[in-house]
Amino acid sequence: MKKSLTAYVNGRFLPLDDASIHIEDRGFQFADGVYEVIACFGGAFLDIEPHLQRLQHSCEAIRIPLPVTLPELESLVQQTYEKNPFTNAMAYIQVTRGIAPRSHQVSESMTPSLIITIRDLPMPSDEKLTEGVSAITLKDFRWGRCDIKSIALLASVMGKQEAAANCVDETFWIDGEGHLLEGCSTNVFALINGTLVTHPLDHRILGGITRKMVIRVAEKAAVNVEERPWKLTESGLSECMMSSTTSALLPVCRINGEPVGSGKPGPATKRLRAMIIDELEALRGV
Ligand SMILES: Cc1ncc(COP(=O)(O)O)c(C=O)c1O
Repeated sequence: MKKSLTAYVNGRFLPLDDASIHIEDRGFQFADGVYEVIACFGGAFLDIEPHLQRLQHSCEAIRIPLPVTLPELESLVQQTYEKNPFTNAMAYIQVTRGIAPRSHQVSESMTPSLIITIRDLPMPSDEKLTEGVSAITLKDFRWGRCDIKSIALLASVMGKQEAAANCVDETFWIDGEGHLLEGCSTNVFALINGTLVTHPLDHRILGGITRKMVIRVAEKAAVNVEERPWKLTESGLSECMMSSTTSALLPVCRINGEPVGSGKPGPATKRLRAMIIDELEALRGV
């Protein structure tokens, strides 16, 4: 018999099918909560500290007190992983304001809900690496605090639906002037005249943990990095790439049906991805 996954729910480890949350949990009623996704390779979590710090930032931003300390949370994530020990895994953490009769009014006495699940982390297909992925752009219709990793992801779900309807992998949000902000679940970069360019950190994008890693790795490779608004129409744009915890760094070779640069993964993307994969393999002890 296939062994069930084990989830952590408010102090208890339970088989996934028995792990449930009250219908008056404010995460369900109002999307009143935040989340994190952390990758784990061979039992070692990648960048767990910045992920937990970002969770704390998201909680503070919407005034939810974290129900445990960060070291306690790290230990709970580790314990949940030990019950679901995939070679490549992703940990999902969700914190909501808790259970209360449905009312917009927030009471200070609510006890936050905390859940943790672990899943297998699928690796990108060979085709995505050799041919690159494709995307469309959509005018950003999300809320004004994209720096908070909110569980209110309806706009992102709609963006992904639009991508699927167009047979592409991702939707990149653009602002009123046509600057690329980020994807539904990725940050986006361009190589423009040899400089790696990405939108600066502000309320319009999520501060991706992988985005930070890409910038660090680029600087190590002596690639100039600029955090500034950019457009697809800029001259000298030769490559695009997108980053996330679940896919590291992928080449983006078609946007809105047009090839980006040569239409194939470019040398800078390949090099940066290889450097990141080296770091992940070192973590896995390969
Ligand atoms: C809107 C958005 N931007 C960027 C990212 C990438 O962030 P990270 O590298 O921390 O996974 C995500 C990940 O879910 C996201 O939802």
